Amino acid sequence: MESAEYHSALAALSWQIELGVDECIADAPLDRYDVPAAVPKPATPVVAPLVAPAVVEGPDPVAAAQAAADAAQDLDGLRAALATYEHCELKLGARNLVFSDGTPGARVMIVGEAPGRDEDREGRPFVGRAGQLLDKMLAAIDLSRESSVYITNVLPWRPPQNRDPKPEEIAMMQPFLHRHIALANPDVLMIVGNHSCQALLGERGITRLRGDWTEASGRPAIPMFHPAYLLRNPAAKREAWADLLSLKARLRDR
Ligand code: URA
Repeated sequence: MESAEYHSALAALSWQIELGVDECIADAPLDRYDVPAAVPKPATPVVAPLVAPAVVEGPDPVAAAQAAADAAQDLDGLRAALATYEHCELKLGARNLVFSDGTPGARVMIVGEAPGRDEDREGRPFVGRAGQLLDKMLAAIDLSRESSVYITNVLPWRPPQNRDPKPEEIAMMQPFLHRHIALANPDVLMIVGNHSCQALLGERGITRLRGDWTEASGRPAIPMFHPAYLLRNPAAKREAWADLLSLKARLRDR
């Protein structure tokens, strides 16, 4: 490439990054201003048929998820079941299935929301900035992924541009999540963030819910602020610390 071409390509790229572009979704650019050639009108008007078009019935995604999750006998089986589940469109845009990290069988299981860019790239939950803060929070009460915590997310695939999960996506993943909890068999659940509360408690409102022990998927659970929220609102770390101490006390007393 000529030097001038190189520099103008580089300038165009930095301009796109400034506009917020963070990934390339096609090999060739698509000119959306290009007006398509006019479609010739038919000589005689087309009369719409009076019969309604046939509705193509597919399998119910939630029922399919339930059947696949129920059939999984262990965590590897559940991972394989998710890998072959074809009803969730998020899978098409994701690089990796993000199943879990940490110690299977640990007393504490953390349920986060959805993978972000770093997690999608690595195929492991909570490896980005929020994950690093999560590790520090755990270390403060002598817990770690290496020895005492198992981690997963409600969604195993990254939503495009980190958008919020759709209700139907949460509904599809719920059977897998409950089976995941049953197979990992933790003593307690730490539910981080609003979408995780929605999936496991059927309600949102983390500011109200956080810190109050409840029950989810048949075991004690404490909702907590999401570490990504704490990065944006450091003042909320005070409440997060109180919730961590409550978790520590619960583990000691059981
Ligand atoms: N946020 C989540 O909820 N989960 C991750 O894995 C990463 C960020």
